[in-house]
Amino acid sequence: VQKQATEYISFRVRVFESNINNPNTVIDLNFFLNEVIQGADYPIIYTDSNGKPISCRNIRPDLDSLTNLANLSNSDSLYIYGQLQKISQDNLPISITYQGFVLGYYYYGYSPVIYKLRIFPYLAISAGLLFLIIGYIGFSYIKRSEERYIWIGMAKETAHQLGTPLTALSGWIELIKLDRDKLPIALMEMENDIKRLSKVANRFSKIGSVPELKSTDLNALILNVAEYFQRRLPNLHKKIDLLTELHEVPAIALNIYLFEWVLENLIKNSIDAIEQDNGLIVISTYLYNEQKVIIDISDNGKGIPANLKNNIFKPGFSTKTRGWGLGLSLARRIIVEYHQGKLFLKESRPFDKTVFRIILKIL
Ligand SMILES: Nc1ncnc2c1ncn2[C@@H]1O[C@H](COP(=O)(O)OP(=O)(O)O)[C@@H](O)[C@H]1O
Ligand SMILES: [Mg+2]
Repeated sequence: VQKQATEYISFRVRVFESNINNPNTVIDLNFFLNEVIQGADYPIIYTDSNGKPISCRNIRPDLDSLTNLANLSNSDSLYIYGQLQKISQDNLPISITYQGFVLGYYYYGYSPVIYKLRIFPYLAISAGLLFLIIGYIGFSYIKRSEERYIWIGMAKETAHQLGTPLTALSGWIELIKLDRDKLPIALMEMENDIKRLSKVANRFSKIGSVPELKSTDLNALILNVAEYFQRRLPNLHKKIDLLTELHEVPAIALNIYLFEWVLENLIKNSIDAIEQDNGLIVISTYLYNEQKVIIDISDNGKGIPANLKNNIFKPGFSTKTRGWGLGLSLARRIIVEYHQGKLFLKESRPFDKTVFRIILKIL
C-alpha cells in the first residue's frame, strides 16, 4: 500500500510536470494546488529551488491555510523546517522543473494511514501479547472465583439448613411450655438439634479454606447422614423409608464436610422426587475391583426424563419452583475436583429406580 501510494504521488507530480513543461500549456499553479495538493491526506511541503518552504499542506491547519510561508515567526519557521526534515526522510523530494530549470521541490511524507500501516505489525504483536496476558489473568481469575463459588453455593445451602434445627428447637420449647412432662424427651431431641446446628456452623468455619482430605470410614459417615434423615423423615407429609446397604470398604481419603454435603444433597433431591406414599431411598456401598468404591443413592421417585438428563448437572438448572439448581453441579465439582472421583446419573426409571452413582478411587 505504501509503495502504491508513493507511486501514485510521483505519477501525479509527473503529470503536472509534463503539463507545465508543455509550452502549449499555461502554467496553472492553481491546478497544482487544487488537484495534487488539496486532495492529499499526506503531509506536503513545497519549497523553492533553494529549499525554502513556500506552501504546505497537512502540516498544521494555521500554516496550511497560508498561501505564502515567507513571513513566518521564528517558532513557526522552525516548526516548518522540522517537519521538512522529518518528511524528507520518508520520501525523496520530487523536483518540479520547467524547461530545464528547477522551480522547486515537492516534499511529501506518508499519510497517517500509512504510518498506521507501518506500525501495524507491532500493534498486532502487542495486541496478541495483551490478549494472552488478559486471557491468562482472566483464566486464573475464573478458576479462583469458581473455587469461591463452590463455597458460596455451600454457604447458601448451609444457611438454608440452619432453618430446620432452629424451627425444631423453638417447637420443642413451645411444647415444654405447654407440658412440663415432655421435658426429658424434649431435652434429648434438642440435644440432637444443637449437634446439628454446631455441625452446620462448623461448615461455615471451613468456608474458603483449601479442602483437606482425611482417611475416613465411609460406611460410618453414611450411617451418620442416614440416621439424621431417618429421624427427620417421619415429619414429612409423605411416607419415605431410607435404607442402607453397606458392604465392607477400605478407608478412603475424604473431606468429611464436603462429602457429607454431597450425600445430603443427593438424598434431599431423592426426597423431593418422591411424591407417592411408598417412597424408598437406598444408599449402598460396594468395593469394585479392589480399586474403587461405589456409592449409589437410589430412589423410586418420579425420575428424570431422558431429555433433561444432560441438564441436571448444569449450575442453575432446576425443575423446582424454589430450587437453586446448584446442588448437583456443586456436588459433581466436589467429587471430581476435590476427590478425583466421578458423579453421574446411572439410570432413571420413573417410580421404579433412579440412581446417582459416586465412584471414588482408593488411594
Ligand atoms: N433423584 C432425583 N429424581 C428426580 N429428579 C432429580 C433427582 N435429582 C435431581 N433431579 C433433577 O435435577 C434438578 C437439579 O438438581 P439440583 O442441582 O440438586 O438443584 P435443585 O435441587 O435446587 O433443583 C432438579 O431440579 C431435578 O429436576
Ligand atoms: Mg438439589
